Amino acid sequence: METLRDKVAIVTGGAMGIGGASARQLAAHGARVLVADVDLAAAEANVARIEAAGGRAAAGRYDVSDPEQVRAMVADAVSRFGRLDILVNNAYNRKEPDGSALTISDSALDYALTIMVKSLVWAVRAAVPEMKEGGSIINIASVHGFLMAPATLAYETGKAAVIAMTKQMAIDFGPQGIRVNAICPGHIVTERMAQRWRGHETLYGLVKAQYPIGRTGTPDDIAHAVRFLASEEAAFITGHALVVDGGMTIQLQENFGYAQARYTRANPDIRLPGE
Ligand SMILES: NC(=O)c1ccc[n+]([C@@H]2O[C@H](COP(=O)([O-])OP(=O)(O)OC[C@H]3O[C@@H](n4cnc5c(N)ncnc54)[C@H](O)[C@@H]3O)[C@@H](O)[C@H]2O)c1
Repeated sequence: METLRDKVAIVTGGAMGIGGASARQLAAHGARVLVADVDLAAAEANVARIEAAGGRAAAGRYDVSDPEQVRAMVADAVSRFGRLDILVNNAYNRKEPDGSALTISDSALDYALTIMVKSLVWAVRAAVPEMKEGGSIINIASVHGFLMAPATLAYETGKAAVIAMTKQMAIDFGPQGIRVNAICPGHIVTERMAQRWRGHETLYGLVKAQYPIGRTGTPDDIAHAVRFLASEEAAFITGHALVVDGGMTIQLQENFGYAQARYTRANPDIRLPGE
């Protein structure tokens, strides 16, 4: 069903992973999509996939850590497709290791806050004046925005800021009829993550065992939520951080503990990272 017919969307980091699936999902429901990514060849490959399935899309090379390129991305979407309705702020990469407050470098912290916080502000600043009533902004945050892991100060801070900015922006742009929501994915096995798990199947099994639903997520699990929040079906939802994590973050410690104990008993040869 073409719930997004005549809509125009930008998906940053839209070449692969969660952004790739989101671009395909929006296009499958009738939107014209600018697949914006630093990796132009991969963005073009995703556009070819969208077109082969009967959708409409264009690829462009934009680095969202550069405010000029973010401005150009929005201007190109509008000049190419004539309007803008949906902005999915999804792109993320890491150039240097994350760390604790004691170990992280200033440049790693600066870059993380640029790609997760400032780039999102630049994209919204360029996009909102182009959006009419019914516009929808979707920010990809993470469960890391509210549950903390060791030595990941930059990522947790950045994703917590994405959730805060989502709520704040929903207040500012609600009167114009523009909704702003976030999605907080659990562990999503993208093309890149699948590569990372190769050869570590037993450890990956432990991760899956800790999900109440018995599996980790797929890019499509998140893309479906993106499509819903972009659509008129979500017309009364704004300022919300939607957790899409197979129930991973609803558990008390004993539930994790029992799942881990059962799994390690069945797989006594398991090696944890670093062992
Ligand atoms: N995969 C997960 O388990 C997971 C979980 C929670 C949240 N997230 C979030 O979801 C989003 C997507 O993650 P993913 O796992 O799909 O990533 P990915 O690495 O699979 O894909 C990221 C895409 O963004 C592009 N990109 C990277 N830097 C860019 C830049 N500066 N400008 C433009 N494009 C850029 C890459 O080329 C790639 O196509 C990120 O915001 C990430 O923090 C991912």
